[in-house]
Amino acid sequence: MRPRKIIIDTDPGQDDAVAILLALASPAELEVLGITAVAGNVPLPLTQKNARIVCELAGKPDTLVFAGCEAPLARKLVTAEHVHGKTGLDGPALADPTMPLQGPHAVDFIVETLRRQPAGSVTLCPLGPLTNIATALTRAPEIAPRIQEIVLMGGAYFEVGNITPAAEFNIYVDPEAADIVFKSGVPLTVMPLDVTHKALTTRPRIEAFRRLGTEPGRMVAEWTDFFERFDMAKYGSLGAPLHDPCVIAYLLRPELFSGRRINVVVETQGSFTLGMTVADWWGVSRRAPNAQFMGDLDADGYFALLTERIGRL
Ligand code: RIB
Ligand code: CA
Repeated sequence: MRPRKIIIDTDPGQDDAVAILLALASPAELEVLGITAVAGNVPLPLTQKNARIVCELAGKPDTLVFAGCEAPLARKLVTAEHVHGKTGLDGPALADPTMPLQGPHAVDFIVETLRRQPAGSVTLCPLGPLTNIATALTRAPEIAPRIQEIVLMGGAYFEVGNITPAAEFNIYVDPEAADIVFKSGVPLTVMPLDVTHKALTTRPRIEAFRRLGTEPGRMVAEWTDFFERFDMAKYGSLGAPLHDPCVIAYLLRPELFSGRRINVVVETQGSFTLGMTVADWWGVSRRAPNAQFMGDLDADGYFALLTERIGRL
């Protein structure tokens, strides 16, 4: 079976970094056509640099990395240094990358790749605010039917928000972009906080990464060590939710996840609910379903996959 072609759109972010490592460790199943950086957890100059650091850590310096949008479509950028640290990859000390950043803008890369690749053969994997994806869809509407699927991390329903009481960070940063993506008609699979909050980096799971005895394993352990302090203090949980690798794990082992095909709309006007994903889990709105909205996962299976694959790097 030929590997599935994907573009990872990302705002690294320790959890984005683990997702990128998982994808690059799985070449038999996934062909990473490119990685497109977007402003989110930290500003764009850092997210594009961090994406390259992670590719070099994976031993894949030939990966194509592009810089994309540096601000949301219609709002000021909100970042999350309080979670990810000033660099976005706080935890271990990291050398600057030596691999190049590609010249074209990330949005141009997304549009041209979708125009050039056979229709229905490329999956988009957004792990941050949806600014790049929405800009591509707006600039070149003809690409929408050419996208095989969008599998994204974002939103929340039963878990409510993590950046406001109502909204999850990726959607909240650029609700207008999220609204465009959720209305695009592209097949959509969503990994909300409802599922990622069940993927906690408990101590045994972090130690399993460290016991790999490899540089990637050590880095993942140190990133998750750093990353978890915020969530544990906030939720009193036994670890932090490892959000973004859920997107890549779904592509590798979809059976680890369960959810429902429902209607999801994005609030773009609310004073208190801006960026909320209004997920019609009980089908009361009669609005047409537009997303496979995940609600549960096999957490042990997820971390076993992560540890085994990162152990291959
Ligand atoms: O709310 C969690 C999401 O916001 C994750 O993608 C994390 O990396 C941040 O981008
Ligand atoms: Ca992210």
